[in-house]
Amino acid sequence: MSYYITTPIYYVNAEPHLGHAYSTIAADILARHMRQRGEDVFFLTGTDEHGEPVAQAAEKLGLEPRELADRNAPHFRELMPRINASNDFFIRTTDPEHEAKVREIVQRVHDYGHVYEGSYEGWYCPRCADFKTESELGEGNTCPIHKIPVERKREENWFFRLSAFQEQLERLYAERPDFVRPAARYNEALSFIEGGLEDVSLSRPKLTWGVELPWDPSQVIYVWFDALLNYVTALSYARDGEDLTERFWPAFHIIGKDILKFHAVYWPAFLLAAGYEVPRRMFIHGFLLMEGHKMSKSLGNVLDPFEVIDRFGADALRYYCFREVPFGRDGSVSAAGFEARYETELANEYGNLASRTLAMVGQFRDGVVPDAAPDPALLEGADGLAGLDEAVRDLLDRAELTQALEQIWARVRRLNRYVEETRPWDLAKQEADQGGAGDRLDAVLYSLAEGLRVLALLLHAYIPEAGDRLLDALAEPDRGLAAFGSRAGGQRVGELPPLFPKIEAAPAA
Ligand code: ME8
Ligand code: MG
Repeated sequence: MSYYITTPIYYVNAEPHLGHAYSTIAADILARHMRQRGEDVFFLTGTDEHGEPVAQAAEKLGLEPRELADRNAPHFRELMPRINASNDFFIRTTDPEHEAKVREIVQRVHDYGHVYEGSYEGWYCPRCADFKTESELGEGNTCPIHKIPVERKREENWFFRLSAFQEQLERLYAERPDFVRPAARYNEALSFIEGGLEDVSLSRPKLTWGVELPWDPSQVIYVWFDALLNYVTALSYARDGEDLTERFWPAFHIIGKDILKFHAVYWPAFLLAAGYEVPRRMFIHGFLLMEGHKMSKSLGNVLDPFEVIDRFGADALRYYCFREVPFGRDGSVSAAGFEARYETELANEYGNLASRTLAMVGQFRDGVVPDAAPDPALLEGADGLAGLDEAVRDLLDRAELTQALEQIWARVRRLNRYVEETRPWDLAKQEADQGGAGDRLDAVLYSLAEGLRVLALLLHAYIPEAGDRLLDALAEPDRGLAAFGSRAGGQRVGELPPLFPKIEAAPAA
């Protein structure tokens, strides 16, 4: 089956921060997992470069918007390999192919009669590039997200008849209760729709920069429609001479809760207006907080993902974000929490399990995994290895990244307990006393190596670098998911330097 997954495209008005890395890693874990399952995957990320958020930031710096975009877009592009994102394409909304396709689609929406000329007056936040209702405003007429004053604004422009899609959207939500996840976000979007849809601006007077409206060059296409359309336009030019739309559309979107309305309400309506299928599904995640506040460029409390990766590696960042904060909810991250989980879970629980297992195979069986039956004791119980890969598949089908990781980690702990319970070093001593290899130690070592292999494969989507190193050491060339006991023994294991080495204390600031 085809599986098309996307992240939001990020504004190039500033540097990438951990929040951007977070959405991209989430999508990457799902993309990698689906590839392991043999699905036909396309994974898209990129940058949103038009509109007021970028134009205003450029003006403050005394730059042309394009200069700022060209300066910052490469930093987002470079972020992707640094976090080990396996995206198949990186879109920039300033790509000429994107712009041409946007004009073509918007023209079609116009020709189908979903567009008219009108005027609108309301409170406007230039950072959101969006109007706010009175009830949404913060104290002293401020934007609740960016904490900056909103502006009273009257616009003459072209409108998209969102109101005409009221019934179709209500039907869509009724028919597809999993269209938006988690359920609380589905309810939020549905109540927005049920509250009555008003038409929205499709264009803006040409004060800012963007894609010209084909039938009225005095206006540019509203940045949100330009941006949303990236999910469709990318498929038409990501591969030279090939249009991937048929093969991959509709998409599964990963987004943050700040942009729910655009994705869950405007976007399906606009797709219907343009004659496309609505998205397959979308998962809305929460905010990473630092000291209780949303990490954001405007608030200046950001964790620099490049710095974290320099010290701890991409795997540790990928692991921590989804272990610490239940995916879908808001949650705080901190340097202290990060270091604690690195030490206790990655280095001690997982890293040591791997080192010990390989060392014992080396010491007691000359480096060859014995061929034995899997120990039935490890299959049993709530944290047994039976049915683990099905459980993880089900959870990841629903983008439950944290729950799936919890399931896997419970088995990492189970294997550690198994080492303590079976005490292979005592079994080895008994063998030495009695002379000759014993079946029990064969079974224990086989079960540990096999359990580790199964867990490394499941964890590979989350921590691919450690996964590759460990699987190579276990002489496992495949990356597909596997059930416990599905590989016989007999492999010669390799060397494995610590998966998660001790980190030197942070230099005093
Ligand atoms: O809104 N915690 O771009 P943007 C978690 N260009 N995720 C966070 C986060 C945080 N503290 N901060 C940001 C835009 N994000 C538009 C999107 S899509 C067609 C256009 C993530 O640069 C999260 O995914 O403001 C959020 O939705 C996105 O970055 C907003 O990025
Ligand atoms: Mg934003």
